[in-house]
Amino acid sequence: MDKIFELKGINAGYDNKIVLKNINFVVKKNDFIGIIGPNGGGKTTLLRVIIGQLKPFNGHVKYYHNLKNGNRNIGYLPQAFQIDKKFPISVMDVLLSGLISGKQLLKRISPQDKSKAYNLLDKMNIVHIKDRMIGDLSGGELQRVLLGRSIISEPILLILDEPDTFVDNKFEQDLYNTLLDLNKKMAIIIVSHDIGTISSYIKSIACVNQTLHYHDSNIITQEQLVSYDCPVQIIAHGDVPHTVLKTHKNES
Ligand SMILES: Nc1ncnc2c1ncn2[C@@H]1O[C@H](COP(=O)(O)OP(=O)(O)OP(=O)(O)O)[C@@H](O)[C@H]1O
Ligand SMILES: [Mg+2]
Repeated sequence: MDKIFELKGINAGYDNKIVLKNINFVVKKNDFIGIIGPNGGGKTTLLRVIIGQLKPFNGHVKYYHNLKNGNRNIGYLPQAFQIDKKFPISVMDVLLSGLISGKQLLKRISPQDKSKAYNLLDKMNIVHIKDRMIGDLSGGELQRVLLGRSIISEPILLILDEPDTFVDNKFEQDLYNTLLDLNKKMAIIIVSHDIGTISSYIKSIACVNQTLHYHDSNIITQEQLVSYDCPVQIIAHGDVPHTVLKTHKNES
């Protein structure tokens, strides 16, 4: 049982509004968890509680490693619309910012840091945009850069909030294959609306709609989604041979 963190009896939300109710959730090393749920169900709010950005009303967040807010042991890729594209910073500097933890804002960037960032850009096929300002990037390019920032410090937990929103099919496949590789070294939590595509990569599913239901398998039926109060449609990707979702059957 190599736990990374645990949420116990968490109630969380904004002002007086409760968004998450009595959440219990354990994440262990090597986990690869897909989070699904309807818009406004509280997925992003849950991630913000996990990384320490939002303080819950009640309950406990217990970290078993040195994972606290600002610590680079957690890689976090926020949902796209939360990024301020007007901020005047270059691609290279965004990547390097992933090596600076909250406590050491004045850390000097070493030549090793720079070559690490360069190599990662190269691996992600975006070295040619290293000097561009982030405001001038396409949505997909920006997603790649931000993914690079979230993994450059080699965290033990990687959290991705809908990384597949703006990307084309090619990048989506690259992204998921990269994640499979990264999962050998770190736990991954990914929010996605495309359960049909992510199901063959993830190991388990968490359904979030005010409450959280953990489903210890990457196979889920429409009936189970209903019983978890998680009204999302499974989109069958008929042409994708690795889709492992069960189709609707009378199983009683
Ligand atoms: N900063 C905030 N202040 C007040 N209410 C907020 C804030 N952020 C989110 N909410 C509200 O909390 C609820 C849950 O939002 P959240 O962003 O966690 O949902 P989500 O499951 O991530 O949705 P989506 O699939 O659209 O990303 C929504 O009703 C939202 O309007
Ligand atoms: Mg969200």
